[in-house]
Amino acid sequence: MAIKLHRIRACVFDAYGTLFDVNSAAHACRDSLGENCERLAELWRFKQLQYTLLRSLTGNHADFWQITGDALDFALATFRIDDSALRSKLMSLYMVPVVYPEVYASMTRLKAAGMKLAILSNGSPEMLASAARNANIADILDATLSVEEVKVYKPHPSVYALVCARLNAEANEVCFVSSNGWDAYSAKAFGFKVLWCNRLNQEPERIPETPDAQIATLADLPNIVLA
Ligand code: LAC
Repeated sequence: MAIKLHRIRACVFDAYGTLFDVNSAAHACRDSLGENCERLAELWRFKQLQYTLLRSLTGNHADFWQITGDALDFALATFRIDDSALRSKLMSLYMVPVVYPEVYASMTRLKAAGMKLAILSNGSPEMLASAARNANIADILDATLSVEEVKVYKPHPSVYALVCARLNAEANEVCFVSSNGWDAYSAKAFGFKVLWCNRLNQEPERIPETPDAQIATLADLPNIVLA
C-alpha cells in the first residue's frame, strides 16, 4: 500500500546526503586522489560526523566548516597525501556540493501546493546558503536552519526544536526527511513524522525510534505528504 502522511504543514530536509551528495567533492578530484578516492571520501565523512558527536559530548563546539576541514586533514594524512592545493580544492568544492537530480522538481511541486520548506542541518549558515544557491533552491526555501543557532550538533533535541519555533509548527505537522539513518531515527524520537530517504539501502539502525517509512529518493515525497 502506498505510504501517506496526513496533516503535514512543513517538509524539513537534512542537507548533506539528503539534498546534496557528500561525496561529490572527492569525486570531482578523482584524478588527483586516484585509487584512494572512495576510501578517502568515506573516511572524510565518517570523521566529520564523529567530530560533531565528540564536540557535542565534550561541550567544545566548532562550526561545521572547521570540522569538515579537520576531518579532511585526518583523511588526507591517513592516505599520506600532503597537497595544500588539493586540500583547498576539496574544501571549495564542499561549498557547492552536487544536488541530487530529483530535488528541484520535488521541492517545486511541494512549494506550489503550499507546503512550507526548510533545511535543518549541521552545516554552517555560510555553507548552507552556498549549497542552496548553487542548487537553485534558495528561493524555494522558507527557512535554512543551522545548528549554529544552538551550537550543538544533531541529534541533540534542541536542534530539532528549532524547526517548531521557526516554522511555528507542531512536531507532528512536520515531515522530516533525512538520508542519514541516525538522523531519521533521532528526529522520529523527537516527535516529527519522518521519512528515511535511504539512498544507500543501509540496514535499519538499532536506536530509538523507527521512522514512519523509507523512500529511495525524494521523487515520491509530494505524493506522500500532499492530500
Ligand atoms: C546534515 C548532516 C547530518 O546536513 O548531513 O545535518
